[in-house]
Amino acid sequence: MRKYTQIFQGTAFTSKSSKEVEFLHNYLFCINSNGIIEKVVAPDDTDYQDLLDAYQGKENFHRLTDGQYFLPGFVDLHVHAPQWAQSGTALDIPLNDWLNTYTFPLESKFSDLVFAKNVYEDVVSTMLANGTTTALYFATVHKEASLLLAKICAEKGQRGLVGKVVMDDPEQNPSFYRDADTQTALVDTEEFILAVKELAKTTKQGVYPVVTPRFIPSCTDDALKGLGELAAKYDTYVQSHCSESDWAHGYVKERFQKNDAFALNGFGLLSDKSIMAHCNFLDEEDANLFVETGTAIAHCPISNAYFANSVIPIAHLHSKGVEIGLGSDISGGFSPSLFDNARQAVMSSRMLEDGVNPSLPANERGVLASRITINEAFYFATAGGGQSLSLPIGRLAKNYTWDVQVIDTKITSAKLPIFNDKEDLNDVFQKIMYLVRPENIREVWVQGEKVHSRL
Ligand code: GUN
Ligand code: FE
Repeated sequence: MRKYTQIFQGTAFTSKSSKEVEFLHNYLFCINSNGIIEKVVAPDDTDYQDLLDAYQGKENFHRLTDGQYFLPGFVDLHVHAPQWAQSGTALDIPLNDWLNTYTFPLESKFSDLVFAKNVYEDVVSTMLANGTTTALYFATVHKEASLLLAKICAEKGQRGLVGKVVMDDPEQNPSFYRDADTQTALVDTEEFILAVKELAKTTKQGVYPVVTPRFIPSCTDDALKGLGELAAKYDTYVQSHCSESDWAHGYVKERFQKNDAFALNGFGLLSDKSIMAHCNFLDEEDANLFVETGTAIAHCPISNAYFANSVIPIAHLHSKGVEIGLGSDISGGFSPSLFDNARQAVMSSRMLEDGVNPSLPANERGVLASRITINEAFYFATAGGGQSLSLPIGRLAKNYTWDVQVIDTKITSAKLPIFNDKEDLNDVFQKIMYLVRPENIREVWVQGEKVHSRL
C-alpha cells in the first residue's frame, strides 16, 4: 500500500460548484509529504478498510471526534495588515477623509520595525485563529517592514501574498507618508519582489510578492507604468483598489476619462494574477474586461457598508463569469473573520434585491436577482478565492493542499444549537456558517502542517 504522511478521518464540507456544497460523510483524506491531498476515500470505496487497518492508532492518523467537521481554510483576498492596529475604530467618515485622518498616520508608524513586528505577529496569528489559511496583504510603503510581514507569514505557516504599497504622488499623499519619489518606489518594489522570492524558497506553504499600487489616486502615471512592467518581468500578482467609492471612482474618471478598470489595464495591471478590491462601480464593459483578462474581484462586504456608498451587484458580476473571492479589508471592515464577511455578503445582497427605501413601492425598491446564498458566500471564501489566485487551494479534493479548519460544534462556551444526533448535514453546514465563533475553530492546518490549535 502507498505510504501517506498523514491520514485524516471525518466529515467535510467543500464546494462542488458555486451554488452547491458537497458533504463528505466520514471520509478519509490521505496527505503526502508536500501537504497535498493525494487521495480522497469514501467509506464504500474498496481500500477504505485497508487504509484504516494500516493507519488507525498510529501517530499520523487523525480522527475527528463527534461534533467536529472539516472546512477548507479560508482565502482572504484583501487585508491591510497594518490597519489591524485600528480595527473596530475610525469608521465614522468617508473614505478619502478616513485615509488622511486615521489611516495614513497609522501606516506611517510602520517605519518602526519594533512596532511593525508587534502588530504583524498579532494580525497573522489572529487571521489563522479565524480560519484564514491564505491571505493577500497590503503592508505599507516601507520595504523593510513589508518584508518583515512576509517573514512572519513564512514563520507562522500562513500562505501570505504580500505587497509593499506604492503611493508616490506628492500631490495626493502627505509628506510624512509616501514613497520618496517614483524611482525609489519602483526600485524598492523590485528589491522587495526579489527578497520575497528568496524567502519563498524556505517555506513549505509558499509566500508571494505582490505588486501593489495603493489605488490610482495615490500613484503617478510613471509609477503605474513601471509597476505594470515589474509585474510582467517577474510574473507577479497585482493588487489594488478599483472603483471603490463615489469619490475614488469619480477621481479616476476625471483624470483619465475612463473607469479604473480600463485605466489599470492601460498600465498593464490587469491579468490572471490581478485581484482588485471592492469594484463596486464596475460597468458592463469593465466587467467584460475583468473576464477577458482573468482579473478577480476581492468582495469586501463589511467594508463596503461603511465606505462604498453602494452595494455591489455581486450575483450579477459572478453570473457574467468574473472570478470572485471574499476580503475582510481590515480595517475598512472591522472583522478579521471571513465567517463574518460571508454573513454580511448574504445580508447585503438581500438588501440590494429587496431595496432599502420603505417609502418606495415594493416593486421599485430593489434590484432583481441580486441575492446570493450562504453556499455562494462559502464558495467565495474558499474555492472562489483559490480560483482567483490560480492556486490549488480552497477545496477538500484530490491535488488540493491540506488547508483546513477543524470546526467543533460542541465547545462548551460556544455550542451550536444542534439537538439531534442525526441532524441533516445541510443544516449543520448552515449553522456552522452563521454561528461559528473563533472558539469553535479547534485546529487550523496549512499545507499539511498544524499552525493553530485551541484546547
Ligand atoms: N483606498 C485606498 N486605500 C484604501 C484603504 O486602505 N482601504 C480602503 N478600503 N480603501 C482604500
Ligand atoms: Fe482596502
